[in-house]
Amino acid sequence: MNCFINTNAQSSFIQNIYARNCLNLDGHWHYIIDPFETGFRGFQGAKADENNKLSGYFENKQQQSKSELVEYSFKKSPTLDVPGDWNSQDEKLLYYEGTIWYEHDFDFHPQSNKRYFLRFNAINYDAYVSLNDKKLGVHAGGFTPFEFEVTKLLNAGNNFIIIKVNNTRKKENVPTDNFDWWNYGGITRDVLLAEMPATFIKDYKIQLAKNDLKKIEGYVQLDGANLSQQIKINIPEAGLQTTVTTDANGKAAFSIPVKKLSYWSPENPKRYHVAISSGTDSVNDEIGFRTIEVNGSNILLNGKTVFLRGIALHDENPFIPGRPRNISDCRMLLNWAKELNCNFVRLAHYPHNEEEAHLADSMGLLLWEEVPVYWTIDWTNDSTLHNAEHQITDLIQRDKNRASVIVWSIGNETPNIPEREKFMEAMADTAHALDNTRLVSAALLTRTSGDTIFVDDALGKKLDVVSFNEYYGWYTGGMPWEINKFNFKIDYEKPVIISELGAAALGGFHADSATRFSEEYQQSVYQHQIQLISKIKNLRGMTPWILVDFRSPKRPEPEFQNGWNHKGLISETGQKKKAFFVLQDFYKQKKEEDDLQEIK
Ligand code: GCU
Repeated sequence: MNCFINTNAQSSFIQNIYARNCLNLDGHWHYIIDPFETGFRGFQGAKADENNKLSGYFENKQQQSKSELVEYSFKKSPTLDVPGDWNSQDEKLLYYEGTIWYEHDFDFHPQSNKRYFLRFNAINYDAYVSLNDKKLGVHAGGFTPFEFEVTKLLNAGNNFIIIKVNNTRKKENVPTDNFDWWNYGGITRDVLLAEMPATFIKDYKIQLAKNDLKKIEGYVQLDGANLSQQIKINIPEAGLQTTVTTDANGKAAFSIPVKKLSYWSPENPKRYHVAISSGTDSVNDEIGFRTIEVNGSNILLNGKTVFLRGIALHDENPFIPGRPRNISDCRMLLNWAKELNCNFVRLAHYPHNEEEAHLADSMGLLLWEEVPVYWTIDWTNDSTLHNAEHQITDLIQRDKNRASVIVWSIGNETPNIPEREKFMEAMADTAHALDNTRLVSAALLTRTSGDTIFVDDALGKKLDVVSFNEYYGWYTGGMPWEINKFNFKIDYEKPVIISELGAAALGGFHADSATRFSEEYQQSVYQHQIQLISKIKNLRGMTPWILVDFRSPKRPEPEFQNGWNHKGLISETGQKKKAFFVLQDFYKQKKEEDDLQEIK
């Protein structure tokens, strides 16, 4: 019997963790590859005794005498870098899907009047976590943070963490067992030990009220014994502050009338230093203030219409290739988007590194964030829905104070079938209920009849912005120069975003525009697509697929793919393809048009 059942990680986590007092536990972690889960099953399996003491590899047994039989040893085992997916660190793990055990020792001396939380910013896919051979719990989902309180479990001196990580794809998971990106496994983001006061500021939201440039609204949530306290929120540069008192549950809502503010936008990524303090704790944040709303078929940023000059992006550094290791990997990707004259980036298809949203705040890039409800999810499985709702809840919880984030996307290319409707409507309702200050969307599928492209997915009625993917000139619709015969019939008077369009090109391969995988073919697709989509009267944005080539096990063609999806405008070696400049020019022109509008 697996003793980890129902010991899920904490339902909410500490807000803005990088602004808190943390010991960084990244580094070289020992690992054991365990495809048969030997360390977790059989009579030795992961049983926990009455003291929560675990058996199996969680025990971290060390041979005490030459005659003692111990058939594993973390100490003698090699190491993997954390953070980092395992696939890019060891040739034999490139395609590995299964269980790997991680072990890490650290010396620490906890203080008696403090509380401690072990925080994982992402582990793909499920993680069974223990500290000093005591069970902490389990987390499923590869892209959102989770934490455990370990105040009572820390030793003064040596401590060891053991985690069983498994990235096996399963039908009931989110994402399900089929997707077009590399199934990078492991501890892919930072591991931190957060030291907090006995009663601390666990969570807060501070943003402009829905569609209201003249009111900052939010709440502060304390965690601990001393829940009724005075809270000060101070925004010195704006001359704004307020003091509120938390209720018996440690929560206080507040509202601050705004006199004068420099509103955040891509052209003016102004962030204000915000200080929140209680009697026992304080935390600072750099927050931008902007409103985002839909007005008829327009998207309004700070009350003004905006065109979203975007690009889609996976959370991958092509030069590794692997998950980004640090903030400079993220900055490299976002700088490329800036070079493309973008003001918007679709972070596909799952929550990206937490630091990317902070970066976008400072660089002036609007963001679309998404959860991996992708293709053929197990629609009628309640635990799958629970998992998906958990992921969108965690994503909103994590990035709700980021001005850059304007769209929560609840999924990608999900089939327009009855059993999917209840699932996706529940997701839309959850996102809307959690955050009424941002837009909710999803990347929908179209259907074609004759020369008409229909966008009539019923889910559209639940979405603030109607977004869809279309690959005319690549997967369908004939050759690039033939696609202008198509017209769109869109059933919704809402703003429209093309969330994907594109074609593949092997960087450096040149031929005529009829030759698949040549830069000229991709260039031609972009030139004709720009004409095609300009027919859409409510077009308010686009995020072509994709900024940079990325790895995918679904792309085996040896000459033109070789395990890569080459739809990037930048190749896996960082070389800009011809189509990059087609889009860069189009966005330059669009920006000039918008700037002119602004002046009028
Ligand atoms: C799909 C999908 C992407 C995929 C792309 C492609 O639309 O959303 O994840 O990579 O098309 O086929 O290249």
